[in-house]
Amino acid sequence: MAKIIDGKKIADSIKNELINEINSLKTKTGKAPGLAVVLVGENPASQVYVKMKGKMCTEIGINSFEYKLSDKTTQDELLKLVKELNSRDDVNGILVQLPLPKHIDEDLILNTINPEKDVDGFHPVNVGRLVTGQDTYFPCTPYGVQILLSKAGYDPKGKHVVVVGRSNIVGKPVAMILVQKKEFADATVTICHSRTKDLSSITKQADILIAAIGVPEFIKKDMVSDKCVVIDVGVNRVDDPSKSKGYKLVGDVAFDEVEKKVEAITPVPGGVGPMTIIMLMQNTLKAFKKHNKI
Ligand SMILES: NC(=O)c1ccc[n+]([C@@H]2O[C@H](COP(=O)([O-])OP(=O)(O)OC[C@H]3O[C@@H](n4cnc5c(N)ncnc54)[C@H](OP(=O)(O)O)[C@@H]3O)[C@@H](O)[C@H]2O)c1
Repeated sequence: MAKIIDGKKIADSIKNELINEINSLKTKTGKAPGLAVVLVGENPASQVYVKMKGKMCTEIGINSFEYKLSDKTTQDELLKLVKELNSRDDVNGILVQLPLPKHIDEDLILNTINPEKDVDGFHPVNVGRLVTGQDTYFPCTPYGVQILLSKAGYDPKGKHVVVVGRSNIVGKPVAMILVQKKEFADATVTICHSRTKDLSSITKQADILIAAIGVPEFIKKDMVSDKCVVIDVGVNRVDDPSKSKGYKLVGDVAFDEVEKKVEAITPVPGGVGPMTIIMLMQNTLKAFKKHNKI
């Protein structure tokens, strides 16, 4: 049986550290970090994420500024709001919840966020800083994966990390973070995707397998070795009439069968998910300290 990597527990311990640090900064400076979260439209999953982010801000002492805009909001109106948030001293971090409605150019909006307030780490300037090893804001989910591995005692140094998925949000940045010549990185990284030939022959070589595919229970036991540490980024809703909501959440890994074989694995929910939100808080605190030269 695999060791279960408890993302909730690790995220809770980071949360306590952040509460203490923010409290002492408030005493010292009389100020608190501020995070603006902008939601356009009524995507149910996005609404849940925005609510969770606001709640977490309140719990740890970050000022939360929520903007819930109708799906009729024009691109110009959204640009105007982002520019206003860029100029506000009480806003250290800006997050525009994706996806945006189709009539709005996502790249244009993300590129308008001041890179110094881009706590989601998606601005091309911050992506460039990440790739070149400069100080930046790491995208929250990939950053959460790195911290999860290090806190659970699985240093990626010298290990073969196989990432399945090459999205700009998860696959590519997690590969870039773990290949860096830095602490808790230094891995040999292979990135796979839907055009990869004989995927199993590569995933079986992984010391650490990161699944970011978006296909429920895609990774099966015959695709991994028994020494593998499996990080399941996937969050998929599948029908389950036995649940009151009518669905359950599963990852991109067939947990029940893979767990019996591998060295360690993250559950879904309770693995990478709780880490993502806490890394957003960590990035907002980092922005606050930078802006206040602390
Ligand atoms: N826990 C969290 O906080 C969190 C945050 C973000 C995302 N997620 C979850 O993580 C998963 C991935 O998200 P994403 O945004 O990266 O998804 P995405 O943009 O849809 O990317 C999926 C990637 O998987 C690859 N892929 C799809 N089918 C494949 C197959 N049969 N074989 C090999 N590769 C395949 C795709 O390859 P191509 O590029 O060739 O199409 C693509 O690169 C989703 O379940 C999402 O809900 C969780």
